[in-house]
Amino acid sequence: MNDTTMSDSTAAAVAAAAALAKAADQPAVKVHADKVDVYYGDKHALKAVTLDIPERSVTAFIGPSGCGKSTFLRCINRMNDTIDGCRVTGEILIDGGDIYDPRLDVVELRARVGMVFQKPNPFPKSIFENVAYGPRIHGLSRSKSELAEIVEASLKRASLWEEVKDRLQESGTGLSGGQQQRLCIARAIAVSPEVILMDEPCSALDPIATARIEELIDELKANFTIIIVTHSMQQAARVSQKTAFFHLGVVVETGPTEQIFTTPQDKRTQDYITGRFG
Ligand SMILES: Nc1ncnc2c1ncn2[C@@H]1O[C@H](COP(=O)(O)OP(=O)(O)O)[C@@H](O)[C@H]1O
Ligand SMILES: [Mg+2]
Repeated sequence: MNDTTMSDSTAAAVAAAAALAKAADQPAVKVHADKVDVYYGDKHALKAVTLDIPERSVTAFIGPSGCGKSTFLRCINRMNDTIDGCRVTGEILIDGGDIYDPRLDVVELRARVGMVFQKPNPFPKSIFENVAYGPRIHGLSRSKSELAEIVEASLKRASLWEEVKDRLQESGTGLSGGQQQRLCIARAIAVSPEVILMDEPCSALDPIATARIEELIDELKANFTIIIVTHSMQQAARVSQKTAFFHLGVVVETGPTEQIFTTPQDKRTQDYITGRFG
C-alpha cells in the first residue's frame, strides 16, 4: 500500500465517520410530505406542503385559524377520506411507505397514526372499556388478563392510572376535562401507535390540566412521534423541538422551535409570533 491509497482510505474513513455522526445527530424522518395539496370542492385549502416530521420528537403546527393545520393533520391518518368532496394530491410517506397507496389498509393506518382531538371525546362507556376498545378491535390481546394489562399500561403511560385504578368500571364521561383528555391519550396509546396527532389538545382545559398534558407529551416523545397543533405560542415553545408555521394554506417556514421563535426568517412568521395577526 502506498501513501496515496493510505491517505485516500483515511479520507474515506473520516468522511464515513462524519456522515455517521451527522446521521446520529439528526433524528430519522418519520413522516415525509411532498407537495401535498388539499381541495374541499373548489376550495384550495392546502398548497404544495412539503414537510418532514422527525421521529420520536414533538413537532408543533402553528398559524392563524383557517390556515390548514387541521387539514394537514388529517392527511396523515387519511381522515380527510371521510370528508365528502375532499381531494388530496401529492405524497405522504411514513417510514418511506406511501400511505395513499391503494393497497394500504386504512384501518391499520389509523392504528399506526392515533389522534387526539380538541374536545376530549371519551366513549360513553367505562374507563376500562374506553382504553380496551382499540386493542380489542385490532385483536392485540389473546386473553382477558392480557387486555387488562394493556389497559393498565396505557393508563400508566397517560399518567392517569393512580387517579382511576379504583374506579375502572365508572363512566369515562364522569371524569374532569383534563382526566378525560388523558383518557383519550391512553385510548390512543393502547393500540401502540407510532405517530400521535393532537389537534389543539389543551384548548378546552384549564392551566393546571394543560400543564399535566404538556408534561405527558414531553414523556411520550421518548416512544412516539408527536405532532401537535396549538394556538398557544408558549405551548409550542415549551413542548416542541420543531415548529412549522402555516399561513393561508402554505407552510411558510419550518425549523427548530427555538429558531422559529427567536430568529424567524420570514416576515409573516415574525408578524405572527409577535402577535401582529392571528
Ligand atoms: N370539511 C370541510 N369542508 C370545507 N372546507 C373546509 C372543511 N374543513 C376545513 N375547511 C376549510 O379549509 C381551510 C383550512 O381549515 P382548517 O384545516 O380547519 O384550518 P385550521 O385548522 O388551521 O384552523 C379553511 O378555509 C376551512 O374553512
Ligand atoms: Mg384546526
